[in-house]
Amino acid sequence: MAFENVGIVGCGLMGAGIAEAAIRSGYATTVREISPELVAKGRARVEKSLQTAVERGKLAAADRDAALSRLSFTTGVEALADCDLVVEAATEDPELKKELFVALDRSCKRAAILASNTSSIPIIELAAVTARPERVIGLHFFNPVPVMKLVEVIRTIRTCDEVVAAARGFGESLGKRPIMAKDRAGFIVNVLLVPFLLDAVRLLEQGVATREDIDTGMELGCGHPMGPLELLDFIGIDTTCSIAEILFEEFKEPRYAPPTLLKQMSIAGLHGKKSGRGFYDYA
Ligand code: 3HC
Repeated sequence: MAFENVGIVGCGLMGAGIAEAAIRSGYATTVREISPELVAKGRARVEKSLQTAVERGKLAAADRDAALSRLSFTTGVEALADCDLVVEAATEDPELKKELFVALDRSCKRAAILASNTSSIPIIELAAVTARPERVIGLHFFNPVPVMKLVEVIRTIRTCDEVVAAARGFGESLGKRPIMAKDRAGFIVNVLLVPFLLDAVRLLEQGVATREDIDTGMELGCGHPMGPLELLDFIGIDTTCSIAEILFEEFKEPRYAPPTLLKQMSIAGLHGKKSGRGFYDYA
């Protein structure tokens, strides 16, 4: 099954990255955000990242312009009616995502595949609110999407073979390496990554080391591109807190429970790089 029109729901960090990857790979892409203000912010995000790619010599200016000509925005889910594939990349809130899947199922053509970029919610919970569970799948990308080469493909107990093959093919067409995971909260990467990040917060909370030394430890000691606290700022404190809560709810294991410091930072709006302050100051 070949896709022509792709829809993306949400144009935050992940939605903008997925939209950028799609338009760079030749797909006519419609992005839905909830307000004209968020549309403007989302467009600026995509444009800025494309410009960075041009400045880094990764993309010709003419290809940037061609990519942007394939990008359109909307504030209504109905505008995604003709999309062959819709990737939902909204906030990590199960109830919000379920509402979106109900709306997408109503608006999108019957043959369309509905995918979620959720990082932790079992896909079957989203599939179950639609009348097309066999056409619902997980496509979990990694931040920054234009740079990270992985996509997790999550098949539920209802997803059909044709949809799995099409979703894998879509990931490959964006230059990503698909890996298959069972439909279980956190899939592969976050089940491994999140406890590691939470342990770094616990080390800081317990006063074992400074934030700089914790990060330097993993960068220089283990060759990680960024330390865990910097990575938390990069992913988003609020996002990681939500993921941890969902994983804890699913497995009831203390290693997934968000530490007090992380919860308080999330409540206080210290959400990391995107908010200007997290474990580090970006002002
Ligand atoms: N388009 C294309 N290429 C770009 C680009 C863009 N918009 N922006 C940067 N690049 C390229 C650069 O040109 C460079 O390429 P090169 O290595 O060939 O020269 C490469 O990307 C790295 O960019 P920089 O040199 O600017 O930056 P760094 O070397 O400091 O790397 C980083 C930045 C890629 C973010 C790196 O620090 C990193 O890999 N960090 C870890 C990121 C990570 O772990 N992400 C996963 C988070 S978990 C997740 O997303 C799942 C969710 O569910 C929580």
